[in-house]
Amino acid sequence: MIVVLTIGLILSIYIYLQLQPPIRKLIKSTRAVAEGDFTYRVEIGKENELGELALSFNNMCNRLQELDKLKADFLANMSHAFKTPLTTVQEAARLLLDGAAGEISEQQRRLVEIIESDNRNLVTMINEVLQVSRIETQMSEINCRSFDFSVLVKDSLNRFNLLAEKRNIRIIKDFDEQIPAFVGDYDKLSQVVDNLLENAIKYTEEAGRIIVTLRTVRLGSNNFPVPRRFTLKKGVNYLGFEVFNTGKPIEKSELIYIFEKFYQGKQKPRIKGSRGSGLGLYIVKYFVERHNGVIWAEGLKRKGTAFRVLLPFSFEETS
Ligand SMILES: Nc1ncnc2c1ncn2[C@@H]1O[C@H](COP(=O)(O)OP(=O)(O)O)[C@@H](O)[C@H]1O
Ligand SMILES: [Mg+2]
Repeated sequence: MIVVLTIGLILSIYIYLQLQPPIRKLIKSTRAVAEGDFTYRVEIGKENELGELALSFNNMCNRLQELDKLKADFLANMSHAFKTPLTTVQEAARLLLDGAAGEISEQQRRLVEIIESDNRNLVTMINEVLQVSRIETQMSEINCRSFDFSVLVKDSLNRFNLLAEKRNIRIIKDFDEQIPAFVGDYDKLSQVVDNLLENAIKYTEEAGRIIVTLRTVRLGSNNFPVPRRFTLKKGVNYLGFEVFNTGKPIEKSELIYIFEKFYQGKQKPRIKGSRGSGLGLYIVKYFVERHNGVIWAEGLKRKGTAFRVLLPFSFEETS
């Protein structure tokens, strides 16, 4: 009896040890696929049921990867096809508003303004979809040069002055006097700043306030918050950039989702007809991280919402 039990026990342990590693591999792979990584493949190398399961799993991944590429190509092609006619409509509407085709009545102006502003939103959305498709196909290059970051922010502010004025929003600049030259991709970082400013204007209340802060941050300088997951390196200068807007603070439970693709939060834009695509912050985070930086948001009780960015003044591209 004892002998039979012992043999049974040894057999069970043997089977368990044989099964454990391939099952672990399969668990790891299904997790990766669930997170959207379709490049994962499982090597089990056994001609039994587990080997067959691995083969089916790999076939499924091949198919998912194909479909993912089809989806990305479709989106990129469609967006591209939409972009040209929409840009033409945009230019035509602007010309009408500027009086290039003669005087227009107040009523005509109001109608053309609707065409212009809805069309501008569409162009922004299409550009965001194209940007994401470039990011996903690894076609988004970072072209570095040295520039003055405060000029970049001022240029961006000029682009949004009119929109802010229209909503009676006051924008306050709080910049360090001396900001060293910054090395990075001017266009990509302009998109980062534009997106954060646009959101601030979009999500603040009428007659609200926006504060834009720019600091030179060093280890121990204590002039800008640093998230726990980010370590400032000794001897490295960082740029601290913050866009704060008054209004209902963003909820804590939302903070882990807002940088996800297509995520649109509980707060709705206060500007009529300006619903976005939920891609802005995804693109912003991607470009900040490509510059070895970090971005995070915080809802400040009863006061408003702050988006903060820390970027090393010059960086070595790792990929
Ligand atoms: N300044 C802000 N204040 C409050 N909520 C914000 C702010 N900026 C972004 N959000 C929230 O984060 C979500 C994602 O932002 P984003 O990716 O720019 O998408 P979109 O602006 O197109 O909705 C928004 O839908 C909004 O709910
Ligand atoms: Mg946005």
